[in-house]
Amino acid sequence: SADKLDYVKSKIGEYADFPKKGIVFRDIFGALTDGKACVYLRDLLVRHIRDKYPDVELIVGLDSRGFLFNLLLATELGVGCAPIRKKGKLAGEVISVEYQLEYGSDVFELQRAAIKPGQKVVIVDDLLATGGSLLAATALVRKVGGVVLESLVVIELVGLGGRKKLDSNVHSLIQY
Ligand code: PRP
Ligand code: HPA
Repeated sequence: SADKLDYVKSKIGEYADFPKKGIVFRDIFGALTDGKACVYLRDLLVRHIRDKYPDVELIVGLDSRGFLFNLLLATELGVGCAPIRKKGKLAGEVISVEYQLEYGSDVFELQRAAIKPGQKVVIVDDLLATGGSLLAATALVRKVGGVVLESLVVIELVGLGGRKKLDSNVHSLIQY
């Protein structure tokens, strides 16, 4: 498992001054273009959830890179998945929340019908930076009655302190 983690980490891309000067962009897609890294990443994420949250009932992935893990984890774990999307994309009755990002602000939405009251949720995303996205996602899930077991990310940018913003469990596979 440490070997798998090292292998995935070795494939994460690093780009200086993207998308703005001063940002060091960590790129999950560097790993996803490698077949072995994809399989290892799946194994690591699935093992973590199976070990710590075997009672999970729904995976909730964040627009857009969180979607990479939504169906993958849902099918591996035998549960459903739901998207949190940027505004104007989801049909039916939705709830919205505005949030801040490392470089800007945006609005997230969740379909009210996506989560049943009391349902146990693991939220997934590629990366934790300032924590604004996961904070907003956590608020949306709770507002429709979901119980957030954990926020799970592949990459955590520790220096930005995002974890401190979140009052639920946070787990990252790789830290910078
Ligand atoms: C990125 C990343 C996370 C979020 C992390 O997504 O995929 O969702 O930022 O930042 P935070 O911890 O400061 O909130 P982005 O909003 O750039 O959208 P994308 O996935 O569609 O590229
Ligand atoms: N990489 C990818 N997404 C991000 C980053 C990053 O370094 N910071 C904020 N969102």
